[in-house]
Amino acid sequence: MKHGKWIVGLVAIVSGAVVWQQSQAEPAGGVRKFMRPKLEHAQRVLEGLTLEDHALVAKNAEALLRLSEAAEWQVLPSPEYVRYSEDFQRLAQELVRSANQKNVDAATLAYVQLTMNCVNCHKHVREARRTATP
Ligand code: HEC
Repeated sequence: MKHGKWIVGLVAIVSGAVVWQQSQAEPAGGVRKFMRPKLEHAQRVLEGLTLEDHALVAKNAEALLRLSEAAEWQVLPSPEYVRYSEDFQRLAQELVRSANQKNVDAATLAYVQLTMNCVNCHKHVREARRTATP
């Protein structure tokens, strides 16, 4: 019995240390899980554009828009991050609108701009992390 408590305590300390260590190595583990589906939706948008499946484009652009409105999206407080987020929402809305109008050219343009926005925001996030004080 005495030993049992000891072991439970030890296990609690060890697993606590492991969780702590993981959170150090991976500061945004939950955020990454939240962010991941963006890629799937973006790929679906491309699928919709190439197959002229306007509903597929609209549906996935709407999903992207909803993600960008969630609290988990707000990772950095920098003005650049805010601007990329606003541009992202504007372009996702443009994508929905163009898809609903069955305007493949306009939707494709919005998709390309959205893709550049993805890459540029990620660049900014990496840069901000690199230059952040430890
Ligand atoms: C306003 C900024 C911003 C925009 C725009 C943005 N992302 Fe992200 N993205 C992030 C942040 C922040 C993370 C989390 C990075 C981290 O914590 O390492 C992330 C992570 C990801 C990840 C990695 C998830 C993982 O498993 O690690 C993928 C994939 C991703 N984004 C795809 C996209 C795609 C596709 C787009 C465009 C459709 C996009 N993102 C637009 C900020 C953005």
